[in-house]
Amino acid sequence: MGSRGERLQKYMARAGVASRRKCEELILAGRVTVNGQTVKELGVRIHSGDIVVCDGRTVTPEPLEYYLVNKPAGVISAVSDGRGRPTVTGLVPSRQRLFPIGRLDRDTTGLLILTNDGRLAHQLMHPRFEVDKVYRVEVKGKVTAADLKRLRTGIRLDDGVTTPAAARLVSAGDAGSIIELTIHEGRKRQVRRMMEALGHPVTRLHRCRYATLTDTGLRVGDYRALDRDEVAELEKISGKEENEGG
Ligand code: URA
Repeated sequence: MGSRGERLQKYMARAGVASRRKCEELILAGRVTVNGQTVKELGVRIHSGDIVVCDGRTVTPEPLEYYLVNKPAGVISAVSDGRGRPTVTGLVPSRQRLFPIGRLDRDTTGLLILTNDGRLAHQLMHPRFEVDKVYRVEVKGKVTAADLKRLRTGIRLDDGVTTPAAARLVSAGDAGSIIELTIHEGRKRQVRRMMEALGHPVTRLHRCRYATLTDTGLRVGDYRALDRDEVAELEKISGKEENEGG
């Protein structure tokens, strides 16, 4: 909750009382109090320390948590795995029900956000917001200028042509090459399929940047909490603020 507070109906919806629309109806029906006062109109904002009661029950949402994880290889990007394999949520001790925003393949290392903020996750995964995802891609064979051009133009995959990527050659040799690739889409195994289409199968894949967040200072296997400014920046990028009308 920022210094401007959070709209009452959103706070209630986050606590699982009902949908936002339904919470608005509860408010207008006079069934909600804030600090002992019945609220009769929409527009009230909740700040930390406020006590919200609906139909005699105190309303307490889960605190929202946000972590940046540098996923190791072998770990699944899911909340749980039916086959008992380690998952990213096991990397962060928390009492909240965290889930990853998006996915990395099991063998891919690098940055993933874990949160219990479903709304931010939904917004960030929407292709409309074109969040930058930067990968360090190690491949077989020598990547050529023509390959880079194709990455920048778009590559035909079985689920359609990729949107133009930014591609920078880090090193190239007959045995293998390294490129830095920035994409905005999040299709399944996208980078691996793009490189395969060019005849350069991926040998290692690491996501080193997600939106404005980089892996600097965060070793593979480690995590850290995002600070307020970082969360605010993600909200701005994802258009979350704009959709909420402030
Ligand atoms: N592209 C892939 O192919 N794999 C990932 O894990 C992420 C992007």
